Amino acid sequence: QEVEAGGEEYLFKIVLIGDSAVGKSNLLSRFARNEFDSNSKATIGVEFQTQVVDIDGKEIKAQIWDTAGQERFRAVTSAYYRGAVGALIVYDITRRTSFDSVKRWLDELSGKFLSILLSFFFDCGFDGRAHCDTAVARMLVGNKCDLENIREVSVEEGKNLAEEESLFFMETSALDSTNVQTAFEVVIREIY
Ligand code: GTP
Ligand code: MG
Repeated sequence: QEVEAGGEEYLFKIVLIGDSAVGKSNLLSRFARNEFDSNSKATIGVEFQTQVVDIDGKEIKAQIWDTAGQERFRAVTSAYYRGAVGALIVYDITRRTSFDSVKRWLDELSGKFLSILLSFFFDCGFDGRAHCDTAVARMLVGNKCDLENIREVSVEEGKNLAEEESLFFMETSALDSTNVQTAFEVVIREIY
């Protein structure tokens, strides 16, 4: 699935998904430019950024697609999941509703609804989840871990969900940089 461009280079498409305001854009700006914006505006549609990462001396180009979490962009953003080999599914540890949404984001990522439709028409027992998920390296990210005092989702709950759904798991803070580099690198490493 990786595109080899000119011998030593690899290009990987990674998507950032999750409810609005969980911190997707700030995770990306922290990772790519070491910047944080406390007044960042909601993303409109999709934006992407290419970041070169050194993994074991190899140059890996990660094309990271930052999608809008707002419901009204849903139809647009899911079209961009195609071709992704990695995904970070982000929730906000201070907002339980964003954690409850994770399963829906996973379904969307794996194209579950399309596969149900396909199996209805072709009666082939096609399981979209089993089929698609194995190809995509997925990391569950509990962001804003700097806000321990107003936490609504425990570390244990995050771990358990990740285990249930066979995802990597990490808590991060785009504000104080905790685990941001690591979260992206684990996904890139897994693809590579
Ligand atoms: P959409 O583009 O609407 O999907 O939102 P988003 O997920 O990209 O969220 P965004 O990065 O714009 O962040 C939303 C708000 O949370 C902003 O005010 C950020 O400054 C804040 N924020 C993001 N990450 C963190 C973090 O790790 N800690 C704290 N305390 N605030 C954060
Ligand atoms: Mg955004």
